[in-house]
Amino acid sequence: MDGLAGRVAVVTGGASGIGRGLVERLSAEGMRVMAVDIDGDAVADVAAAAGAVGRRLDVTDGPATGALVAEVEAELGPIDLFCMNAGIATAGGVELSDAEWQRTWDVNVMAHVHAVRAVLPGMLARGSGHLLHTASAAGLLTNIGAAAYAVTKHAVVALAEWLAVTYGDRGITVSCLCPQFVAPMLDVFDVGGEMRAWVDGLAVTTEEVADAVVEGLLDARFYILPHPDVAGYYASRAAEPERWLAGMRKLQARLSYQPPSLG
Ligand SMILES: NC(=O)c1ccc[n+]([C@@H]2O[C@H](COP(=O)([O-])OP(=O)(O)OC[C@H]3O[C@@H](n4cnc5c(N)ncnc54)[C@H](O)[C@@H]3O)[C@@H](O)[C@H]2O)c1
Repeated sequence: MDGLAGRVAVVTGGASGIGRGLVERLSAEGMRVMAVDIDGDAVADVAAAAGAVGRRLDVTDGPATGALVAEVEAELGPIDLFCMNAGIATAGGVELSDAEWQRTWDVNVMAHVHAVRAVLPGMLARGSGHLLHTASAAGLLTNIGAAAYAVTKHAVVALAEWLAVTYGDRGITVSCLCPQFVAPMLDVFDVGGEMRAWVDGLAVTTEEVADAVVEGLLDARFYILPHPDVAGYYASRAAEPERWLAGMRKLQARLSYQPPSLG
């Protein structure tokens, strides 16, 4: 994006954590921000304090997402930036129920599909727009103790890549935010053993994530990596997969993580 001031942004999951940080920072940059969250009261408070507008939205509801986009465009103007950030962190492995896998898929992946379906036609008609997908370093690497989380975050990265290839020559810029660990920490990273202490040591703040996002948006960067080391891990995963997998198993052992029994 050439500049942020005066432009219109939507942030999903804006009531808490990274989304809240984005609502505050993008508003401070002079953007007109619509913050949405399934927790309507909390997002209204965050939005009011930031000078943004807040609404309740369950991002898994496709028709409601379409209605929200129409509402924003009528109230604030054409959407320049859509931040698909709401996500849930589901700890556990293949033993999770089908319903837990499905719920994780619906929030972490299908919500991005609903949002893109709603916002992209207008962006294409205008010949400009920026899509920001919050994935995770788990989408480039993996997440010890959280299979559904890692799988759905890989799917978000795949969707973002596909959109960048398909629409990148028609004025659409796509960014994929892949933080490693961000405080306040998600319970998904507290799966036993020494995992929590290791994660806490690597966590950055939501303000640091917002700094990285603003820089990445202005540079039209595809991967936005608040933890720069992730780029190196991703490269070694591609270059030497067996060595990288062995390293991850060593890390898992060092953290004393034990997967749940499969019955
Ligand atoms: N915290 C981390 O360490 C970390 C690391 C990498 C990626 N992420 C990703 O960043 C994003 C934000 O995570 P966070 O740490 O800020 O989490 P968070 O739990 O603090 O915030 C997530 C927000 O999304 C909202 N939400 C959940 N389901 C929703 C739904 N169906 N509709 C609308 N809103 C919904 C929640 O109410 C909450 O306000 C997620 O996609 C997460 O996977 C987080």
